[in-house]
This record gives sequence, C-alpha cells and structure tokens, in this order.
Amino acid sequence: MATVHSPPVILIIVAISKFSEASVGYSYADTTVWPASFPVCAGQQQSPIDLLSNISSETTHEAFQFTHHTDSITENMTNTGHSLKIDVGHSVTISAGGLQVTYNIDQFHFHWGENSSVGSEHTIDSHHYPLELHVVAHNSSYSSFDDAKNHTDGLAVFGFLFEIQAANNSHLDSVMTHISDVHNLDDHHLVTFKLNDVIDSSKMTTYFRYHGSLTTPECYESVTWTVFDHTMGVSELQMEEFRSLYSDNGTTHLVNNFRPVQDLHGRTVHKYSYSASGAAGSYVNVYLRLSCILLTCMFFSKIYA
Ligand SMILES: *[C@@H]1O[C@H](CO)[C@@H](O)[C@H](O)[C@H]1NC(C)=O
Ligand SMILES: *[C@@H]1O[C@H](CO)[C@@H](O)[C@H](O)[C@H]1NC(C)=O
Ligand SMILES: *[C@@H]1O[C@H](CO)[C@@H](O)[C@H](O)[C@H]1NC(C)=O
Ligand SMILES: *[C@@H]1O[C@H](CO)[C@@H](O)[C@H](O)[C@H]1NC(C)=O
Ligand SMILES: *[C@@H]1O[C@H](CO)[C@@H](O)[C@H](O)[C@H]1NC(C)=O
Ligand SMILES: *[C@@H]1O[C@H](CO)[C@@H](O)[C@H](O)[C@H]1NC(C)=O
Ligand SMILES: *[C@@H]1O[C@H](CO)[C@@H](O)[C@H](O)[C@H]1NC(C)=O
Repeated sequence: MATVHSPPVILIIVAISKFSEASVGYSYADTTVWPASFPVCAGQQQSPIDLLSNISSETTHEAFQFTHHTDSITENMTNTGHSLKIDVGHSVTISAGGLQVTYNIDQFHFHWGENSSVGSEHTIDSHHYPLELHVVAHNSSYSSFDDAKNHTDGLAVFGFLFEIQAANNSHLDSVMTHISDVHNLDDHHLVTFKLNDVIDSSKMTTYFRYHGSLTTPECYESVTWTVFDHTMGVSELQMEEFRSLYSDNGTTHLVNNFRPVQDLHGRTVHKYSYSASGAAGSYVNVYLRLSCILLTCMFFSKIYA
C-alpha cells in the first residue's frame, strides 16, 4: 500500500512549491486571480476605471507645474516582463493642477495591446486606446516610492492615452532608440531624455481626477489619478516596437499588459478644464482699481485746485 501512496504525496509537494513560486509574480492571462495572492486587488477603490466623457467639467485656473523637467536625464530603461519602464530619478517634480502637494516623479511605463483595438487600462465611454503612458510619482512628504506606496495619500499617477496616427510621434524617440536593446525580461539599457520631450504638456489641460489604486499587484489604494482627456499620437510602426518585446527570454511576446476596468463602487470622478482667464481676470481687476484711484485723485485735485 505504501508504495502505491507515495508517488501522489510527492506530486502534491511539487504542486505546492510550484504554486508558491507562481504567487510571487502575477500574470495578465487572468487578472481575476490576483486577489488570491494580493488581497488589496479585491478592494473598493481599484484602478483602472471607465471614464465618462459627459460628466460636467469644473474650471480650473491652475496649470500643472514642473521642476527639472527640461533637464537631460540618463537612467535605465528596463523590460520588467510586465511593462517597459523608464526610471526618472528623483529631481523632477510635478505640482499644482489641483494637487495639494508636490510629487517627485519616479518612473514612467506603458501598457499596450496585441493590436490597436485594445491596450489602454483606462477607457473613455468604454473605448479602449492602443497605448497608455503612466507617469508615477510619490508625495514628496515621503522619502521614496516604496515608502509612499502603501499610504492612502502616497502616490499620484498621470495617465496619457494614445491614438493611432500615420506619422511617428517624436515624443517617443528616446524610448524607441533603445527598445531593441531590452527585448528580453530584465534587459536594461541607459537612455537619455528630457521628461518635457516625452510628455506633451500642451495636452495636460483637460483631465479626469479620482482616487484609485496601482493597476498591478499589490494594487495599493494609494493613488491620486489624473487621466488626460486629450490624446497623444503613436504610429503603427511604433506600436510594433512595443509588441516586439518579450515577457520572458524570447518566447512570449509582451502584449495585452492591461488590467480590465474595475467597479467604481460609488467613487466620484471629477473632470477639470484649465483656463488661463482667471489669472488674466485678476490682472484686469488690478488695472481697473488702479485706474479708479488715479481718476479719483485727478477729480479731487481738480476740486481743490
Ligand atoms: C453619461 O453617459 C452614460 C453612459 O453613456 C449615461 O449612463 C449617463 O446617464 C450619462 N450622464 C449624463 C449626465 O448625461
Ligand atoms: C541600471 O540597472 C542596473 C541593473 O539593475 C544597475 O546595475 C545600474 O546601476 C542601473 N543604472 C542606473 C543609472 O541606475
Ligand atoms: C485584438 O486583440 C483582442 C484582444 O486580444 C482580440 O479580442 C481581438 O479579436 C483582436 N482584434 C483583431 C482585429 O485582431
Ligand atoms: C502628503 O503626505 C503627507 C504625509 O503623510 C500628508 O500629511 C499629506 O496630507 C499628503 N498630501 C496629499 C495631498 O496627499
Ligand atoms: C496597505 O497594505 C495592507 C496590507 O496588505 C492593506 O490591508 C492596506 O489596504 C494597504 N493600504 C493601501 C492604502 O492600499
Ligand atoms: C518610425 O518609427 C519606426 C519605429 O521606431 C522606425 O522603424 C521608422 O524608421 C520610423 N519612420 C520614420 C519615417 O522616421
Ligand atoms: C536568454 O536567451 C539567450 C539566447 O538564447 C541566452 O544566451 C541567455 O542565457 C538567456 N537568458 C536567460 C536568463 O535565460
């Protein structure tokens, strides 16, 4: 009897060790199993979400502000097996745009599909875009991304959606130049770029804002999300460069690395439109007031002359 029973016992042990190995990582093959290994992924404030274009937008007179975004940066571009990630270092900051504090930008990375009908994580009116760029930043009150990521007020992520255009988008040049050097998992290569050249700040005027999560495990609900309404452009040739990456060592293409949209669970999504008129208006006010004072002086000087 013992000789009959021992092989299944060995098989079970092998199966258990394989399972625990797999649970260290995660896969896009079935994102619904993430909560089994990462419980926060089943939370009530998860990302991405579907955004509705018809919500009324609130006017904001406060543009986004950067520091060091025109500095030339040399950092690693890495094939993480789940994305293409470019480190930004710690000097570049983003603030204003309705944010309450300054955030230090840590990295940016992309999500894309096997074809251009899918790829983005956020959708607008259920429409998927072929590519989504995430600029990840941490509240500067925390010392690092790792220190901030598990705090409700820790992170801010800025999402840019792309639409297919005929011409290459030169904003992506610094990424495209070395993409062939990071084809396999864990490959990395130094890239030199200015963040200002990668993100098109002219598109940062209308945006959705809500509280959500990291879109990958641990799925921490620590993100103040900003998703821009104006899209950037990308060519099919550039999309093919993303799709040529591997999630391993040359066997499986890294595509469809997007999490499906999550339930809103009653959260409020705000939409903001930037307008410079508020600032201009206050200058007009100052001008009118000075003019009135001047006219009053002239009036009295006439009376008492
Ligand atoms: C916005 O669109 C959604 C779905 O398309 C619809 O359910 C909702 O009623 C609309 N809201 C407004 C304010 O028009
Ligand atoms: C790039 O990544 C490699 C491997 O992780 C590391 O040894 C190297 O220090 C990194 N370079 C920079 C500039 O961070
Ligand atoms: C594009 O990819 C999606 C997701 O894998 C798939 O469902 C769809 O059939 C594909 N569309 C085309 C036109 O190949
Ligand atoms: C940034 O982090 C600090 C420290 O936890 C916190 O007091 C502050 O409210 C945070 N700011 C925002 C806007 O989340
Ligand atoms: C921080 O991590 C703990 C343990 O995983 C989790 O219960 C909590 O929800 C996390 N906090 C945030 C803001 O995600
Ligand atoms: C467009 O980008 C692709 C991918 O980087 C490149 O192979 C091609 O030469 C570029 N075309 C032009 C006209 O620059
Ligand atoms: C990946 O494949 C290359 C070429 O087949 C091989 O030289 C290299 O050792 C492999 N790396 C890993 C981590 O398996």
